[in-house]
Amino acid sequence: MASAVLLVSLLLISCLAAICHGATFSSLQKTLVVTASPKNGQDLKAGEDSITLTWSFNTSFPARTDSAYRTVQVKLCYAPISQQDRAWRKTEDNLVKDKTCQHKIVEKPYGPSNNNFTWTVQRDVPTGTYFVRAYAYNSEEEEVAYGQTTDTRKTTNLFQVEAISGRHVSLDIASICFSAFAVVSLFGFFLLEKRRTNNSQKK
Ligand SMILES: *[C@@H]1O[C@H](CO)[C@@H](O)[C@H](O)[C@H]1NC(C)=O
Ligand SMILES: *[C@@H]1O[C@H](CO)[C@@H](O)[C@H](O)[C@H]1NC(C)=O
Repeated sequence: MASAVLLVSLLLISCLAAICHGATFSSLQKTLVVTASPKNGQDLKAGEDSITLTWSFNTSFPARTDSAYRTVQVKLCYAPISQQDRAWRKTEDNLVKDKTCQHKIVEKPYGPSNNNFTWTVQRDVPTGTYFVRAYAYNSEEEEVAYGQTTDTRKTTNLFQVEAISGRHVSLDIASICFSAFAVVSLFGFFLLEKRRTNNSQKK
């Protein structure tokens, strides 16, 4: 009986461990050096402008620190100013729950050097302030290391993206208003004209 209870609890604990499993950001080593082409404060237009990225292993770390790295994912991440009052972009230490970096830019097999990628900012990227972060994953697809274009407090080297929808929506609204106005005035003109002919017929 006691052994059955023990077995069940063991199973339960290992299940929980499996679910809650997942790296925390604070546990990752910052061994990747990441650069992105935008200058601090630069404005990029979604759907038009592109970013050139590079990433490499920081050779100040002992050789083979990266022996477990298998793939790298480079992501576009919200700077704190674009996370304010937006729970759906909140930073969490548990990387399964973290919503800082929602736009995957590219995934590649890990290589310690000569990595680069040019990415056109996708049209679905919302207006905001961003930086770029790269995560290294091991063969179990868990994050094991990272690098980013900004400092730890995420205040330097940030850039802006201006969403394409923002620009087009205002244009669309203007043209809808304009056509509505045109229809209404045409209709009004007809009514006026009709009344005038009626009046002149009565005379
Ligand atoms: C490489 O890592 C060392 C030690 O953490 C750090 O001092 C240095 O700034 C890093 N180099 C780059 C280019 O980020
Ligand atoms: C860019 O990446 C290519 C392979 O995709 C590589 O051959 C080239 O050396 C890289 N260039 C730099 C400057 O890292």
